[in-house]
Amino acid sequence: MKTRITILCENLVGRLVGFGEHGFSAFIETDKGNYLFDTGSGHSIVANSLTLNKDLKSIKKIFLSHGHYDHTGGLSEVLKLKGKVDVHAHAHVFLDRIAVLKENEKETKRFVGIPYKKGYLESLGANFVFNNTFTKVEKGVFLTGEVPRKTPFEKQDPRLFSEIDGKTTQDFFLDDQSLILDTDKGMVLILGCAHSGMINIIHHVMQRAGKEKFFAILGGTHLDFLTPEQLEESIKSLKKMEIGKIGVSHCTGMRAAFRLHQEFGDRFFYGCVGSVQEV
Ligand SMILES: [Fe+2]
Ligand SMILES: [Fe+2]
Repeated sequence: MKTRITILCENLVGRLVGFGEHGFSAFIETDKGNYLFDTGSGHSIVANSLTLNKDLKSIKKIFLSHGHYDHTGGLSEVLKLKGKVDVHAHAHVFLDRIAVLKENEKETKRFVGIPYKKGYLESLGANFVFNNTFTKVEKGVFLTGEVPRKTPFEKQDPRLFSEIDGKTTQDFFLDDQSLILDTDKGMVLILGCAHSGMINIIHHVMQRAGKEKFFAILGGTHLDFLTPEQLEESIKSLKKMEIGKIGVSHCTGMRAAFRLHQEFGDRFFYGCVGSVQEV
């Protein structure tokens, strides 16, 4: 399967095109059709798709990595252009999400969940297809479903909560899922925020796909909040794996991105707005 992945939404703009925003979205072109993985937070997806010449009306399917606003906020804008389309996600994508942040010495509670109701998105054309296990969407295209948490060093982000039946609990992100494109040169794994832990996700993919070779791993890794020791454990695990290229974005943070660049050298790239990976 011939594949080209273009980062549509991302925190950083590294080329002379596009707008940056806190969020992530990747436009995927294959010889079987085009797909959209996540939609950013909604400010840049349409503008960046026009600048980068990616036709949002051409997408066959949309995949949502999880319910945070910075991955789902652009969904309404995409649906207004595209109309009827399958939207693959875990049912928890509609949970209320809260982030508790310290800002200017004050604790602030912010709503960070999907900013739309299911019925509204359906009225714009979304046909939700929910999965919670590893799923073959079509030939060569897979979703991880829920990822078992096994590594002791990949912890939940203590700032993030979900609200279920009015009760606020630590967010375990059962809805966090990643996309796998199986190509002749190896698998391409696209992460949203990797809230399940990047290493947990990779192990799950290897186990469920029965393959170990990754042509590339890209997307948000959520490595920014790990302690330096936990980050080094993640890097140690990554170095034991068969990964051709590692391209991080979004919630990776500069500290982790620099460490990965040091370790992976030419095999590392930063996936900013407009960056392209061809397989
Ligand atoms: Fe995110
Ligand atoms: Fe997230």
